[in-house]
Amino acid sequence: MSKLWGGRFSKETSELVEQFTASIHFDKRLYKQDIAGSIAHVKMLARQKIIAPEEAESIIKGLKEIEDEIKKGQFDFLVKDEDIHMAIERRLHEKIGPVASKLHTARSRNDQIVLDMRLYLKEQIEEIITLLRRLMLSLVEKAEAHVETIMPGYTHLQRAQPISLAHHLLAYVQMLKRDEERLRDCYKRVDIMPLGSAALAGTTFPIDRHFVAELLGFSKVGENSIDSVSDRDFIIEFLSISAIIAMHLSRMAEELVLWSSQEFNFIEIDDAFCTGSSIMPQKKNPDIAELVRGKSGRVIGNLLSLLIVLKGLPLAYNRDLQEDKEPLFDTIDAIKPSLEILAQLWVNITIKKQDMFHATQKGFLLATDLADYLAKKGLGFRQAHRVVGEIVKYCQEQGKELENLSLEEMQRFSPLIEQDVKDALDLKKAVARRNSYGGTGFEEVKRQIEKIKAELSS
Ligand code: ARG
Repeated sequence: MSKLWGGRFSKETSELVEQFTASIHFDKRLYKQDIAGSIAHVKMLARQKIIAPEEAESIIKGLKEIEDEIKKGQFDFLVKDEDIHMAIERRLHEKIGPVASKLHTARSRNDQIVLDMRLYLKEQIEEIITLLRRLMLSLVEKAEAHVETIMPGYTHLQRAQPISLAHHLLAYVQMLKRDEERLRDCYKRVDIMPLGSAALAGTTFPIDRHFVAELLGFSKVGENSIDSVSDRDFIIEFLSISAIIAMHLSRMAEELVLWSSQEFNFIEIDDAFCTGSSIMPQKKNPDIAELVRGKSGRVIGNLLSLLIVLKGLPLAYNRDLQEDKEPLFDTIDAIKPSLEILAQLWVNITIKKQDMFHATQKGFLLATDLADYLAKKGLGFRQAHRVVGEIVKYCQEQGKELENLSLEEMQRFSPLIEQDVKDALDLKKAVARRNSYGGTGFEEVKRQIEKIKAELSS
């Protein structure tokens, strides 16, 4: 069979070339969008009297049947077809004959492919937002159950100050909330209709691009045909947001790996959500978290791939742009399952409250509270810091924790220390006290929970 573009060629395409240039094995994923775009285009062509109503009807009927064939797995995707556009058009010719060739009036594959990508990405962004929200809700639920669960908060991965576990979990929710906002903003720039730009210069046919946009649910029409066929910023933006999401998930995953280790022993992951070792019978591994962390590498790489593909391209369309699809699809295939499984994973995690609390009892986590105590009694904070530093040094020499010191021992370092220091050195009270806006105090954490719940239900 000769190519649909074969008129000026005197020879058949070499098979090697066909295989090298084909994108059908990955762009077939765009069939739904490609057909929806073609149907809208044909409706417009008929409305503008560029083709006859019966012609449009026959093309639309054929396209719908093809969609059905693909859905049912009855469609033969051929390497010879090159890409999804050609595959569908080839089949349309087989089904309805020469009238099929009117479909491509006032259109090029250059604007067609961007249309498909934009339609596809709009749908994917919506799905990813739903998955992000599901993970946020899963974290908020866990947080609600653990407002008064106390754990060490870390800086430099050294125990720093006691915090509410809920507060820690809500930090992740804030990260994901920003991701959602970024996606919503990016959506605005995906939501622009490129069809009608044709190869690059627009067309001589009296098309109505706004009508096509309306049919396909786009809120804007591309302003410049050259830009419309060569712009892939919307994919780069999406890939960069996805890289940030993947980085966030990877940080969360890293903590889950640490927390489930015997060294931390903060959580127990349900057996159904862990895997074993083929050689070490005792092992139970946090593979889900590890894979989420691992996948972030590809997702970040995909952003770089596309930036590098684009950076040297002259306007307008270049075949290099075909290389935008695999990084995009790969990122989507990494991000969606990661979000989905993490939301489930949190439900299957038991918090070892006692062990977490126990971990706060070593490491002088209340040293700041003691310094604050002295500062509230009138000592300058820098001086208070030095006094407590000396007390900590003394504790280390004696093998004691702050809470184990007698009043007399402490008074040797400052006469300002009195009986009421007991309160300053109470772990639970220390957390409860930190009710500055955004802090870890229980009341404040409850406020954060209520606020985020309201945001998530809107
Ligand atoms: N498969 C191509 C792509 O993904 C579609 C557009 C091809 N256009 C062309 N003139 N060869 O970008």
